[in-house]
Amino acid sequence: MDRIIIQGGKRLSGEVVVSGSKNAALPILISSLLTPEPCTYQSVPHLADIRTTIKLLSGLGDKSDNQRWLDGADELTLQADQIRNFEAPYDLVKTMRASFLVIGPLVARFGQARVSTPGGCAIGARPVDLHLKGLEALGATIEQTHGYVEATAAKLRGAKIYLDLPSVGATENIMMAATLAEGTTLIENAAKEPEIDDLAKALNAMGARIQGAGTDIIQIDGVDSLGGVNHRIIPDRIEAGSFVIAAALTHGDVLVKGARTDHLEALMIKLKEAGVSFTADGHGIRVRQNGKIKSVDVKTLPYPGFPTDLQAQMMVLMAVADGVSVITETIFENRFMHAQELDRMGAQIKLEGSRAIVRGVGDLSGAPVMASDLRASVALVLAGLVANGTTEISRVYHLDRGYEQIEKKLSYLGAQIVRVPGAN
Ligand code: EPZ
Repeated sequence: MDRIIIQGGKRLSGEVVVSGSKNAALPILISSLLTPEPCTYQSVPHLADIRTTIKLLSGLGDKSDNQRWLDGADELTLQADQIRNFEAPYDLVKTMRASFLVIGPLVARFGQARVSTPGGCAIGARPVDLHLKGLEALGATIEQTHGYVEATAAKLRGAKIYLDLPSVGATENIMMAATLAEGTTLIENAAKEPEIDDLAKALNAMGARIQGAGTDIIQIDGVDSLGGVNHRIIPDRIEAGSFVIAAALTHGDVLVKGARTDHLEALMIKLKEAGVSFTADGHGIRVRQNGKIKSVDVKTLPYPGFPTDLQAQMMVLMAVADGVSVITETIFENRFMHAQELDRMGAQIKLEGSRAIVRGVGDLSGAPVMASDLRASVALVLAGLVANGTTEISRVYHLDRGYEQIEKKLSYLGAQIVRVPGAN
């Protein structure tokens, strides 16, 4: 397995371009199952999870030639005009839980789907009960046997659905299914993430009739069929936020090009409180950090609250801030695994259930550490950037799921970082 080795202490400076959003691209690529017409997407990030999604869709029968994209092109075309198989197998769903999002489009267009349940992952149990409740409300028959969910329906019918939790995935699955249901669907307490809004934009461009995406009540008026689309994926707000924090951490001068401040308001408010100096315009966010970083308290919440996907990165900033910070994780039950690794680098973090008490220290020291999940792994990279000495990160396959060539992007900014290919 590959490792990443970082010599800490370098100030980052220059420009970095944000890639397309992983968490917008995954549901949007999957939504191509809703039509036999070609669907072309731009700004599709070159990530392991996107390659898994392409594999998943071709397993269902999508015969699109993706070689140009796999060779590095920006554009990707998918066409679900030869779907013969309606099963998402365990080995793919366990690799990438977002595969579960195929169930809504498959049952809406073809009346059937057999999808492995994702099971838990490092950060929590992550059940899919809200996805299934929503599909049942739309008239699907749901059976769970041998670790698979079988969904069947002659024709989905619009319904009023209240989500107990503003689940991103459940909102996406139900919204996609409802586009081809008979009648009107209302999703109440819907997730409001920018990725939901981008998915709705792509679906409406295909002929769907969705209103209210990005708010907590989404109305979908079902249509008989959908057409193709040409859609550009929004920038990845989590990658952008990770680079903004990296610039602040290293007291650098970095322009994060393509970062959309309207997608990062909670982070920018917290960073301003912490004494991070930045300016923002239509091109992105520019961080020029000189003064000390102050400790601030952070609580993760559904959008527009502070994103759980930036919690680990923020913990690194607080680990070297001036004071004590309380970080509360309210979305996932086990998303502090990076804390133990940061402690091995000299951080002082005390875990108390869903709270982490982070006492800022003067500096961190490089150490061999292990990545546990996608965002924890980027937190270890950030820590390595500011630690004295050498940090060696193993299991970087977690990183490759969500960050496009992060070591190249950081090297361009002046970081001393290399990837050492491991014996696979
Ligand atoms: C999406 O996951 C993101 N993934 C996650 O990003 C992100 O952390 C999460 O939303 C929250 O913002 C993608 O978009 C591919 P949820 P998702 O359903 O949809 C509970 C990353 O690092 N829940 O909003 O799985 C669940 O257990 C990843 O890019 C139920 O109880 O998140 C969790 O506690 C990590 N029942 C909470 O809701 C359900 O049926 C939020 O989950 C569904 C969810």
